[in-house]
Amino acid sequence: MPILYHKGLFILQTDATAYTFGLNQAGLLAHSYWGRRLPYADDYPAPANPGAWGPFNNPAHLTPEEYPGYEDMKYIDPCLKCTFADGVRDVSPRFESFEADAETLRIHLRDEHYPLRVTLHYRLIPQYDLIERWATLTNLGDVPITLERVFSAQWHLPVGDRYRLTHLHGRWFDEMHIERTPLARGLTVLESRRLTSSHHHYPWFALDAGSADEESGAVWFGLLDWSGNWKIAAEVTDYASTRVNIGINDWDFAWQLGAGESFETPPTLAGFSAAGFGAASRALHNYVRDHILPHSDVPHKVFYNSWEATLFDVVFETQAELATRAADLGAEMFMIDDGWYKGRFSQTTGLGDWTPDERKFPGGLERLIKHVNDLGMDFGLWLEPEMVNPDSDLYRAHPDWVIHYPTRERRLGRDALHLNLARADVQDHLIESLDHLLSRYNIRYAKWDMNRNVSEPGWPDAPGEPRELWVRYVQGLYRVWRTLREKHPQVIWQSCSGGGGRTDLAMLRYSDVIWISDNSHAARRLSIQEGFSLMFPAAAMQTWVTDQGAEIPLRFRFHAAMCGMLGIGADIRKWDTQQSDEACTLIAQYKDLRPLIQFGDLYRLRPADQNGFTALQYMSKDQSTGVLFAFCTYIPQHEPSLTLRVRGLRPDHLYTIEGFEGVRSGTAWMNLDLQFGLYGGLGTFGSTIRRIAQVEKKHHV
Ligand code: DGJ
Repeated sequence: MPILYHKGLFILQTDATAYTFGLNQAGLLAHSYWGRRLPYADDYPAPANPGAWGPFNNPAHLTPEEYPGYEDMKYIDPCLKCTFADGVRDVSPRFESFEADAETLRIHLRDEHYPLRVTLHYRLIPQYDLIERWATLTNLGDVPITLERVFSAQWHLPVGDRYRLTHLHGRWFDEMHIERTPLARGLTVLESRRLTSSHHHYPWFALDAGSADEESGAVWFGLLDWSGNWKIAAEVTDYASTRVNIGINDWDFAWQLGAGESFETPPTLAGFSAAGFGAASRALHNYVRDHILPHSDVPHKVFYNSWEATLFDVVFETQAELATRAADLGAEMFMIDDGWYKGRFSQTTGLGDWTPDERKFPGGLERLIKHVNDLGMDFGLWLEPEMVNPDSDLYRAHPDWVIHYPTRERRLGRDALHLNLARADVQDHLIESLDHLLSRYNIRYAKWDMNRNVSEPGWPDAPGEPRELWVRYVQGLYRVWRTLREKHPQVIWQSCSGGGGRTDLAMLRYSDVIWISDNSHAARRLSIQEGFSLMFPAAAMQTWVTDQGAEIPLRFRFHAAMCGMLGIGADIRKWDTQQSDEACTLIAQYKDLRPLIQFGDLYRLRPADQNGFTALQYMSKDQSTGVLFAFCTYIPQHEPSLTLRVRGLRPDHLYTIEGFEGVRSGTAWMNLDLQFGLYGGLGTFGSTIRRIAQVEKKHHV
């Protein structure tokens, strides 16, 4: 039974982990354990009781509460802050009741004085060793309550102050750097205030005691299922307990909770791995593939995207020529990026007017789509639904539809203004115009781009509290996307925000793949891809071979992109016969490997970030077949040899590894240092792909 209520303790058990809490003697809902699953219910510790009163705090200050409110002489970072109608700004959620079934638990708390109910939701995902939490706030009274902070949860770690925080940071063209840093006493805040999850930090964290690696050590990790402003606040308290708040950012946030209304936070998903960062990632990958991605069982097609080849100079003739060449290389889908719609001759015009430009495509897109389909490929189209250029029919008709303050300049980002998707009329307009497009044309793939962050975040005619914009915008975005998905289930969506500016779990409910960076220089891509892999599977990672880093061998550029869902974005009209032939061979090889990459288990064998030699491996779920990718980006003169060990084989099964002599047991291969030649073999910008295959026992001596 995964959820137990035993001697006042709630025991939430996944296959290998457990999370426990209960009411302490002071009546507070207090955390008690998160780690390996233990054999007996009596093994789990009771919730912590308040200690002695200490100067400048009260005892409850130290209680690891599951969902602390801002109240009392507690100075820890709370989950909840609000203002009641009479001006009181202190909130005291206390245990009232609970409801549970095998995998879900709801704990109802209620303020001691005011009619505010807080329901804490827990959902177990046992076979992935994950737990999901969120909260619902309900106003049971008849006057509004103003919510000012409503986090999804507070996650508590075993008592200690020596944790190391792993997180991802970056910026446009330079996303997803992995940073590992000792967690300092006090509050460490990661956040976005940009209305998207952003390129700058990612709503994911991992904590370990400083010694965990890919294969071993305890790792606690979590993420937020939300695409707007978010906050992760990791706190090491003055008495050395460590906890992580996670939720919608309270920066500039307010929500008017009317009589009888509820506010539900987005979920946070978290897990514990006793076997390092590799197992932590695989748990997330498996869950995302099995339960989040809309089309995860459909092999993703190799596509060609014409953006970097033709930019805004998009006309039928050049697109048709590129499509013909892409089909010759083996591409299965052809997509036009920006530049196809009315008036779009540069980035200053047209955004918002989602009909084909008659001068570029006389009569519409039918002719091009027919050409693409006749070549045996699917057709895909680029969209940027949330933006509008001032020089567009849409803006001329509805200047009030953008996010703005009437007294302030409307600042442009990439020459665009931000449509206010919090407004129902804007949502309805987008649904109608995009539905029309997807209904009229045979579009099987759509890229949803988004190329600026918000400024002047005003909503002059908001029906209520204008600061609800931060949340209502994201809800509006989800409504538009969800409706289009429902109406056009065949469309595979790619999410892009100038590359990886909206890389979060919630996006993966709508888009099948994420374009993780505009930087497709193969050497830098390896570490961006590695950062992405800490959170999400290769099945959701769109990769391209482009002309960036053209000095690097084409084979290396392909190998790097083959680690994800392969696309091509180079100007293939300029490739000579040798390059085209090589690309053909590599694309054919990729199609053969694709099931392993899309559906297999990932092992990061050697890190990419700041490393001249990096390798990763995908193994099929039944561990019978695999593939290893190894890359050298830079090798110092005196490096003696490059070695690595494979992982994920069945110890007693027999395997061969391409390029290495012999048939050996999984145990043997996993304990052998496989040597990769340096010069004349793998040199600087050398790369290799090696198949791993299980063989029948009879071949073995
Ligand atoms: C930004 C994206 O990241 C690029 O791939 C491309 O789609 C451009 N926008 C088009 O404007």
